[in-house]
Amino acid sequence: MWKEIKPEECKDNAFSMIGKEWMLIAAGDEKKANAMTASWGGIGVMWGKNVAYIVVRPQRYTKEFLDKEERFSLNFLPEKYRKELNYMGTVSGRNEDKMAKSGLNVTALEAVPAIGESRMVMVCRKMFAQEMQEESFIQKETVEKWYPQNDFHTLYIAEIEKIFVQE
Ligand SMILES: Cc1cc2nc3c(=O)[nH]c(=O)nc-3n(C[C@H](O)[C@H](O)[C@H](O)COP(=O)(O)O)c2cc1C
Repeated sequence: MWKEIKPEECKDNAFSMIGKEWMLIAAGDEKKANAMTASWGGIGVMWGKNVAYIVVRPQRYTKEFLDKEERFSLNFLPEKYRKELNYMGTVSGRNEDKMAKSGLNVTALEAVPAIGESRMVMVCRKMFAQEMQEESFIQKETVEKWYPQNDFHTLYIAEIEKIFVQE
């Protein structure tokens, strides 16, 4: 049973829940959805709203769904799903039916695809999207280290519309 909580009630540590536990970015419509693992991003406040930001490389299949739809979800799963998170982060939905093969269930929350096994889901509405530009990097070694193929991330900033938790 999903229960809605207020952003202030979310006591998770952002560094752990994104950087260490990882999340699944899910997007699509009722006909087709895709999800990918992400461990970069953040949550905060922007333009007077509670927001999440994510960064997605151009070759990700999930990006097609993110760009097409107005909303997406961020899904945080219990530790026992680490194997599934690894799978969702190494195989592309272009090549395999990831949702079926992973065994994870796609459900809908507020008409947005979400992962049924999540302990917490953030339903997000896109506010801003911009591809990172090489000239904007102040530390040039970041470009050398992370973008040898020039596949710069697109940064998405999205309003967190609702947060749901389940036991
Ligand atoms: C732990 C982990 C974190 C990842 N974080 C990101 C990320 O923040 N941004 C991104 O573009 N790709 C990230 N990836 C890579 C994608 O999850 C991976 O390329 C995935 O297969 C893309 O699936 P898709 O093509 O079905 O969208 C991460 C992978 C792993 C394993």
